[in-house]
Amino acid sequence: MALLSGLEEGQNLPRLMDLYGRVVRKLRISVTDRCNFRCSFCMPETPAWIPNDSILSFDEITRFVRVCSTKFGVDRVRLSGGEPLVRKDIEKLVAQIAFTPGIKHTCMTTNGTYLAEKARSLKNAGLQSVTISLHSLRPERFEKVTRVNGHAKVLEGIRAAKSAGFVNVKLNSVIVRGYNDDEILDFATLAHDEGFNMRFIEYMPFDGRKSWQMEKVVSGDEILARIAKKYRIVPLERERGSTAVNYRFEDGAGGEFGIIASITRPFCSDCDRLRLTADGKLVPCLFGDKEYDISPLLKDDRADDEIAQFLKEIVRLKPPGVESLIKASAELKHVRAMYQIGG
Ligand code: 5AD
Ligand code: SF4
Repeated sequence: MALLSGLEEGQNLPRLMDLYGRVVRKLRISVTDRCNFRCSFCMPETPAWIPNDSILSFDEITRFVRVCSTKFGVDRVRLSGGEPLVRKDIEKLVAQIAFTPGIKHTCMTTNGTYLAEKARSLKNAGLQSVTISLHSLRPERFEKVTRVNGHAKVLEGIRAAKSAGFVNVKLNSVIVRGYNDDEILDFATLAHDEGFNMRFIEYMPFDGRKSWQMEKVVSGDEILARIAKKYRIVPLERERGSTAVNYRFEDGAGGEFGIIASITRPFCSDCDRLRLTADGKLVPCLFGDKEYDISPLLKDDRADDEIAQFLKEIVRLKPPGVESLIKASAELKHVRAMYQIGG
């Protein structure tokens, strides 16, 4: 019995480990590259969409998840896009993944537009948490960057997520100098006054327009310093594998905020994630220029063991981290933009 429950917990399984001793515990799966927004720090002017017939089916994605969880003890899955909610019947995939043996947590990053309609059905399907992108609190500014008049709909989506019973709703904001860095305190106040878990993300060079510049990055330290001018804040212990350093407010207010300083303070040394693109490419490192096509192995006539063997080989090849890649390439090379990798 003890052995069985051990197996159920995934404790006795071999792990997907790279050459630096890092273990894969989480999957990030982009279910589509399509999106109803055109955020300037993500999408190119004219996106080159993945052809429909190259997009993995729900069964192929679920099979990938099942092999990772039952053979290697991976237990967390984040679904992302593009915008995951534009994929038809996404609740079906959520349910398939949430009920896969060994999967303990299924969550999603969304731009929130369709949450007003879908929050409840996603919750019922087994989704445990949502992270909603909200890059400006000002409707006109929001429209300028997303090219869509959708601010009110996103706010409605955020409220719907809360009333559907999602606890700890996280809000993501990519901070870009000259665009929304004057809203840092407003976002912090939203966390303080309304109990949200706000995440400030450093701008990364995955914009489809190649207009990223180091000068436009507002460092995590700068974000923190601006917040600390108004609020007394207390750092929380960082969760293993987390890209964020989280803080609470000293006065005991409900919300928290986190800083994801992937450019100035990356946590590559305990990175525990593996990414799968909508067309079945494994991306071991967001900053790397390598991707590996697993889609042929997800077809019905291939064995689980072939998938498992491929996963072991690919994970071994994971580069040590962003610092080494910057050194090696002088400038950051990247094969895909954010809408194609899913964050
Ligand atoms: N840098 C940092 N974050 C980005 N995102 C999109 N583009 C970028 C970028 N260039 C965000 C999305 C979403 C998360 C997955 O990544 O808005 O919140
Ligand atoms: Fe869409 Fe998110 Fe990219 Fe904006 S950042 S275009 S919402 S995928």
